[in-house]
Amino acid sequence: MGTMTAIAEIDLRPHALRIAGSAGAAPSLHNAQPWALWVDVGAVQLWADPSRRAAVADPDGRQMTISLGAALYSIRLELAELGLEPVVELLPDRERPDLVAVVTASGTASPDPALHRLWAQLPRRRTVRDRMRAEVAATVRHELTAHVNAEGCGLRWLDAVADRRALATLAMLAERTQQRDPRFLEELAYWVGAEALAAGAGVPGYALGPAGEAGHAAEFPMRDFGGGRRRLRASAQRPEHHPVVAVLTTGSDGPRDWLRAGEALMRLLLAASGHGLAASYLNQPLEHRGLRAQVRTELALSGHAQLVLRLGRPLGPWPPATPRRPPAELLRDS
Ligand SMILES: Cc1cc2nc3c(=O)[nH]c(=O)nc-3n(C[C@H](O)[C@H](O)[C@H](O)COP(=O)(O)O)c2cc1C
Repeated sequence: MGTMTAIAEIDLRPHALRIAGSAGAAPSLHNAQPWALWVDVGAVQLWADPSRRAAVADPDGRQMTISLGAALYSIRLELAELGLEPVVELLPDRERPDLVAVVTASGTASPDPALHRLWAQLPRRRTVRDRMRAEVAATVRHELTAHVNAEGCGLRWLDAVADRRALATLAMLAERTQQRDPRFLEELAYWVGAEALAAGAGVPGYALGPAGEAGHAAEFPMRDFGGGRRRLRASAQRPEHHPVVAVLTTGSDGPRDWLRAGEALMRLLLAASGHGLAASYLNQPLEHRGLRAQVRTELALSGHAQLVLRLGRPLGPWPPATPRRPPAELLRDS
């Protein structure tokens, strides 16, 4: 057919900043951006930066790895947008576990409008913690589920009253436990504080959504980024009382699954954004080993819960983008 281009003909290096910019736009726990890239002639290496892991909230690096998976999906989209066919190898080197993926440009690909539409949402997607209309049409639910399934993961929409009650109870228990843990609060204070923000990371005040009591008054508690001590932002609005909630699951529960979960997350978020929908997270019960196990049994999940998402249509204007480290800072020389 003559559509394959020899690998030697593809040089990704001139596109390094663009690839790093798209990877870096991915969501990450506390906006820590725990990644680094090496862009070579025909491949992109994606590395974890464990120094940026939130050690208290994420002791085993599960959420860091999910964040890396989200960045990986952005890299796939960026290569597709360059007219290339990305081939991903996850965790290619046992000796170097921080090398989480290598994306090889295996040849040229004809433009795919569906991928292009997802790519176009990269700068638009963001986490929205403010009030949303709790409505995701059935057709959109099916579409989002299909996106997640295509990345090898599951999506369980939480509609049954008993399931919602069970998860809300566990979420409140987790939120209360975290808000009483000085180490957790110290870590949170760093990621919403001036030092992290000055370095182009962390969660700024305008993105925090309702804090404290307003966030806790909803059916599912929002994370209190203020740590109860000071209201970082007095949000006039309470979140919607009964949010649309979905749990993203994987069949097994290791680093490879976490990467797949991140890819699925990013694909879902970009597709949702294309429909004018946004998400935020209700992950607190998954950050506690015992409660995470309980989520699985009480919801009778067939897989392991990786993320709890709140989805809807933001009522007000979308918040500005959260800060990002400059793309050049993400690039390694070798
Ligand atoms: C694995 C993961 C876990 C997250 N957990 C939470 C969470 O529990 N609560 C929350 O409010 N946001 C959570 N977030 C959202 C991040 O705070 C958000 O992505 C980051 O601040 C960057 O903002 P953006 O998504 O608007 O670009 C999580 C994101 C990821 C990728």
